[in-house]
Amino acid sequence: MTQLRATAVAHPNIALAKYWGKRPDGHNLPAVPSLSVTLAGMATTTTVSFEEGLGADHLSLNDKPVAPGRIGTILGEVRRLSGIALYARVESRNDFPTASGLASSASAFAALALAASHAAGLGLSTAALSSLARRTSVSSARSVLGGFVELRVGSPAEEFTLAAEVVAPPEHMDLRVIVGVTAEGPKEVGSSDGMRHTVATSPYFEAWTALAPGLFAEIRAAVLAGDLAALGPAAEQSALAMHASAIAARPGLIYWSGGTLEALAAVRRMREGGLAAWATIDAGPHVKVLTTSADAAEVTRRLAKAPGVLRTIHTAPGEGARIVEAP
Ligand code: DP6
Repeated sequence: MTQLRATAVAHPNIALAKYWGKRPDGHNLPAVPSLSVTLAGMATTTTVSFEEGLGADHLSLNDKPVAPGRIGTILGEVRRLSGIALYARVESRNDFPTASGLASSASAFAALALAASHAAGLGLSTAALSSLARRTSVSSARSVLGGFVELRVGSPAEEFTLAAEVVAPPEHMDLRVIVGVTAEGPKEVGSSDGMRHTVATSPYFEAWTALAPGLFAEIRAAVLAGDLAALGPAAEQSALAMHASAIAARPGLIYWSGGTLEALAAVRRMREGGLAAWATIDAGPHVKVLTTSADAAEVTRRLAKAPGVLRTIHTAPGEGARIVEAP
């Protein structure tokens, strides 16, 4: 029998225009449009093999067995589409902190969707892969693709088809993203729970959904123009407004640590000193600084000196998910 096995690599992405909150009327449809950049410099590598003799799906993360959690949605759909009735062994490795706001679920589900569908012999289109990943985790739809990527809000009729699309290839714009890592452990409140809580209790959620489409349009135009000076302030506002909606929930949802605030202050000082530097923050305490290749070394040096920043990671726009040789 042919081996039903494949290995895929995917990168995390950082949203320049944030997604936060789901539509009430569909399966994992975002409430706001988002635009991200896929980041080479961090990667998830996932091997999927459908095997005889397994009584359930098995998942290991960085060589440790963990509960399969949300992988069942993707594996179940791949089984349905391919007619394969076997359970799968899934081995996933991240070369960056897991579940701490470094978008590990995005690269994980993108790599899983590709590896599982390839192992099962399904030749899914990029759009079908992105939609498959989105049904499990919205941001992972964007990591299927490389470069600058958008995800529209779609309509309830697109519940099973809504997919991310490329806005521009990785080399389109001179952008570097320097990650200031401020914690190594997992975050306390995952994004799905955090946004549910925000939607349910924050008086600022409506203000966020009113603001987000305009910021998205501004960010999209700045990306297409390759204009970081226009992109930076809009991306920083998107992140801060998203966090403001979460902070105003009841009880308030604060993903930030002291290190996050120190890094934000350092980014402001960098700008005052003439560097290209704007901050963005996902559902975790890390600060990611948008800059140019020319300023990246100095931004990294200053970010690393901010109190509470444990280390930095240098990233640049990268490719989408792809099949690689099994490790
Ligand atoms: C702050 O995609 O992890 O990173 O769809 O519930 O899995 P689920 O949430 P997820 O949320 C990501 C939120 C964010 C912003 C973004 O990536 O757009």
